[in-house]
Amino acid sequence: MKNNFLLVLLLTLVMGATNAQNTKRDVFIKNLMTKMTIDEKIGQLNLLTGGEATTGTAVSTDVESKIVAGKIGGLFSISTPQKIRKVQELAMKSRLKIPVIIGMDVIHGYRTTFPIPLGISATWDMSLVEKSARIAAQEATADGICWTFSPMVDIARDPRWGRIAEGSGEDAFLGSKIAAAMVKGYQGKNLKANNTMLSCVKHFALYGAAEGGRDYNTTDMSRIRMYNEYLPPYKAALDAGAGSIMASFNEIDGIPATANKWLLTDLLRKQWGFKGFVVTDYTGNNEMIDHGLGDLQTVTYKALAAGTDMDMVGEGFLTTLKKSLAEKKVTMAEIDRACRLILEAKYDLGLFEDPFRYCDENRAKNEIFTAENRAFAREIASKSFVLLKNKNNVLPLNSPKSIALIGPLVNNKENMGGTWAVSENRGNSLTLYDGLKNALGESTQINMARGTNIYSDPVLDANASPFGKSTGRENRSDEDMLKEAVDAAKSSEVIVLALGESAEMSGESSSRSKIGLPENQQKLLAELSKLGKPLILVIFTGRPLVLETESQQADAILNVWFAGSEAGNAMTDVLLGKVNPSGKITASFPRNEGQIPVYYNHKNTGRPHSGKPGFEKFRSNYLDVPNTPLYPFGYGLSYTTFQYGDLKLDKASITENQKIKVSVDVKNTGNYDGEEVVQLYIRDLVGSVARPVKELKGFEKVLIRKGETKTVNFEIGVEDLKFYNSDLKWLAEKGDFQVMVGTNSDDVKKANFVLK
Ligand code: BGC
Repeated sequence: MKNNFLLVLLLTLVMGATNAQNTKRDVFIKNLMTKMTIDEKIGQLNLLTGGEATTGTAVSTDVESKIVAGKIGGLFSISTPQKIRKVQELAMKSRLKIPVIIGMDVIHGYRTTFPIPLGISATWDMSLVEKSARIAAQEATADGICWTFSPMVDIARDPRWGRIAEGSGEDAFLGSKIAAAMVKGYQGKNLKANNTMLSCVKHFALYGAAEGGRDYNTTDMSRIRMYNEYLPPYKAALDAGAGSIMASFNEIDGIPATANKWLLTDLLRKQWGFKGFVVTDYTGNNEMIDHGLGDLQTVTYKALAAGTDMDMVGEGFLTTLKKSLAEKKVTMAEIDRACRLILEAKYDLGLFEDPFRYCDENRAKNEIFTAENRAFAREIASKSFVLLKNKNNVLPLNSPKSIALIGPLVNNKENMGGTWAVSENRGNSLTLYDGLKNALGESTQINMARGTNIYSDPVLDANASPFGKSTGRENRSDEDMLKEAVDAAKSSEVIVLALGESAEMSGESSSRSKIGLPENQQKLLAELSKLGKPLILVIFTGRPLVLETESQQADAILNVWFAGSEAGNAMTDVLLGKVNPSGKITASFPRNEGQIPVYYNHKNTGRPHSGKPGFEKFRSNYLDVPNTPLYPFGYGLSYTTFQYGDLKLDKASITENQKIKVSVDVKNTGNYDGEEVVQLYIRDLVGSVARPVKELKGFEKVLIRKGETKTVNFEIGVEDLKFYNSDLKWLAEKGDFQVMVGTNSDDVKKANFVLK
């Protein structure tokens, strides 16, 4: 009772303080807006690029004069305190001295680069995830930036889509946890601090469901799937406080997100209560002309009316809104709304108090690419790796006298960061060769050979190396390179072969129809595997790859994504056993492309396959491939082994107000201490609508010493059983449920309970 009273008092005080802040902000912005002309208000809605990274053909011109004229609200892809100081100085010359918000795609680290987001998600470690965003924000703000276009939370079940690299995989529950952790990391507790930045969650919405996995393509989805399986991570990011959101390029129900009133107003503002601002994606407004929605003026007034506030690069807002206002196509209230929301964000960042808040050159010198940040990069990278196979415990390597280090990626600095490493200290990333040399010195002979190019075909190789990131192509014949590799292998004890994608083979505009290794790389592996030497395959990738043949040829497979600045040291730590791998994949690895989409939380269908080996006539399956993926969601091996005991439930049924305790003993039965991600899934056995065969509802990453047994406990309450029904009501239905706990989505112990 007393506690309740104190809680209420505390809440009242906190709310009171927040309200007072908001009132102060409201008064300030109201005052400012009364002084603003229509042009100045529209100017705030204009976001231009400083050109350090571009993802379209449009570029911004006359930026400096536009700032002075009050025609720019934000600028992105520009960095360094010197340059940003200049921008703010120009802004201080504008009539009302409104500072400019400075954005950047700070996606997985900044100068110190961390693994690509799909890799980070494979850590399943929310404190690491949050810290990665925290450090990224520290470095980026030290370099003048206060707004990041991250986290990208698009659920993706189609690995042909290159942007799967930028998100957290196929699962909405895990994706939501990661989204929230990232936002907390970027924004910290106090947005006004000079080392925190505004987060922009993207791409709202459903961008990951592009048809055929082809980037920018159409999406079409039922509301019930949307609500249950795709929207939760966006909502989680907003609930964690993300102050802005980016509309996606794709259409939803036939209307591009940028002009989709249902999405941006009814759902986002009315249902979810979002109070921040909406920005388009890069020329997303203009692209609605090509979608077939009208000319620039038409698409622009539709976008504003739908709820878009800021226009990235395209300048449709700047050039047409005044006319549309005169023609009564938009209202002053709509322009005011957008302007106010952008000014509020600037206010929250403290830019009005001090426009030069992020322009401290000392910080830039001392806080970027530090030894401490690099040590963290090494840690998170090693924890993102996923051991897919380890026959006869060929890994970790046991001080071999010689290693054949082969492949186009073994010593390729430019490709360590992966996609969207725009601020990466590129030449300084460590390769596998660097890492092994650092660790082994002269004690092990390293026989290095390129073996093959990323692609033999020069056209495909060129497609795989935009932005000047060379694939390191050598103009030698495949035969010549192969011979050199075979010779190196023959004179070595063990083969470490690094194959896979170049950094830019995944990411934006990098869709692939075949997602295996390029044929020339497959050939190299096949030839080396004939030598009968232990063969360790290190896979670089931004997406789940098709590795059916490779999984038979190699003795061990370590998936290392693109691990960033410290890639080389981190790979070495794992290969030599200094770090025991603990990553688990967050998107299924298909057996072949024809299975796509293949994801763990699918429905059962009315004619499910029995699960026994082989094709079953008149059942939902293929003649030529099983339904299961090669590696399921949540899969990843360790150098040790874990044995799961049976599930213990403290009751057989619960009512709405009760919780059920689920515990499981996990024993480390191998020879190494190791971390295990214990995963809990639930199946709603009978529902008013068909429910997935399992859904992740909990996970716990635990360190278990060798020989030790740990009891891992979970609690399930009614909230964990809720879903959106066909009326889009969020509820739990009484009846039978199954709970599953295990080491991956496919290998689980089961028990049943009832919701009464
Ligand atoms: C991408 C966004 C990115 C933006 C700004 C677009 O092409 O889709 O994810 O934030 O460019 O660089």
